[in-house]
Amino acid sequence: MGRMDGKVVFITGAARGQGRAHAVRIAEEGGSVIATDLCADIASNGYPLATPEDLESTARLVEKRGGRALTRIADVRDRDALAAAIEDGIAEFGRLDGVVAQAGICPLGSRQPQAFVDAVAVDFVGVFNTIDVALPHLGRGASIVATGSTAALIPGSLDSSAKGAGGMGYAWGKRAVATIVHDLAAVLGPGGVRVNAVHPTNVNTDMLHSRPMYRAFRPDLDDPTREDVLPALPAMTATGDPYVEPEDVADAVLFLLSDESKFVTGMQLRVDAGGYVKLRPQPPAF
Ligand SMILES: NC(=O)c1ccc[n+]([C@@H]2O[C@H](COP(=O)([O-])OP(=O)(O)OC[C@H]3O[C@@H](n4cnc5c(N)ncnc54)[C@H](O)[C@@H]3O)[C@@H](O)[C@H]2O)c1
Repeated sequence: MGRMDGKVVFITGAARGQGRAHAVRIAEEGGSVIATDLCADIASNGYPLATPEDLESTARLVEKRGGRALTRIADVRDRDALAAAIEDGIAEFGRLDGVVAQAGICPLGSRQPQAFVDAVAVDFVGVFNTIDVALPHLGRGASIVATGSTAALIPGSLDSSAKGAGGMGYAWGKRAVATIVHDLAAVLGPGGVRVNAVHPTNVNTDMLHSRPMYRAFRPDLDDPTREDVLPALPAMTATGDPYVEPEDVADAVLFLLSDESKFVTGMQLRVDAGGYVKLRPQPPAF
């Protein structure tokens, strides 16, 4: 018996990184996935996003675990594309039980106003669009998981002038995700649909290993390398670890999707190696 036997989950940003890890973990536990991704770049974001080949690799990995995957290229800013992907998935698999709204960009350091707009449009409006188009298909027992960010919950971490308009947009968008999860959990509770947020610290993915992120950790260097950045990464954890793995986040997402968490809703679940409690603002001393 798998923990996701018979369940179907819609995932955004599934072509690589955490989204791919969620798809694989769901398949390992007997579930099927509707795996979507933009599979193109966004001009204001200073690092490449996933490709159509990445999305197909996710499907192959799911199938290797004995799972079923339907892939669609869909931008989370485009509700019609998301709705069409869900409808195709339901036509294929017959039902929808879960949603992982986790596609994201992090245009740190960009001072272009467009970077603020794009970060909010993908990181918050994209999550809202995903939930919006999924809701008509979700019934009692369904579970929605939205991805936030521990760093975004710490004032001054990403929304400082050094992180630019893109950092401000990312922080605003992710905090809005945290906030709306509370309200949606209250609104959807009577219908038996749960909503939770997962807030990772640094995760070992392409978003972390990108030039804008490296420059945020090593602003003293023009073009920092992985070796330059590694000693700085544990600043975001209490345990001294530089990052967690996508699979560590996938375990938390799996718990929130499964019936094991049937009474957990409106939760802000941090997978952050203690980063938030280490860095959170403390009340002033007397
Ligand atoms: N990596 C980290 O350190 C970290 C930390 C905290 C939170 N997060 C969040 O975790 C989530 C997953 O990121 P990741 O670490 O796997 O990085 P990633 O860059 O590997 O994955 C993000 C995925 O989202 C896709 N995407 C981007 N814009 C899209 C759009 N408009 N429509 C559809 N898909 C789109 C990308 O193509 C990519 O496949 C993001 O929401 C990110 O903000 C990441």
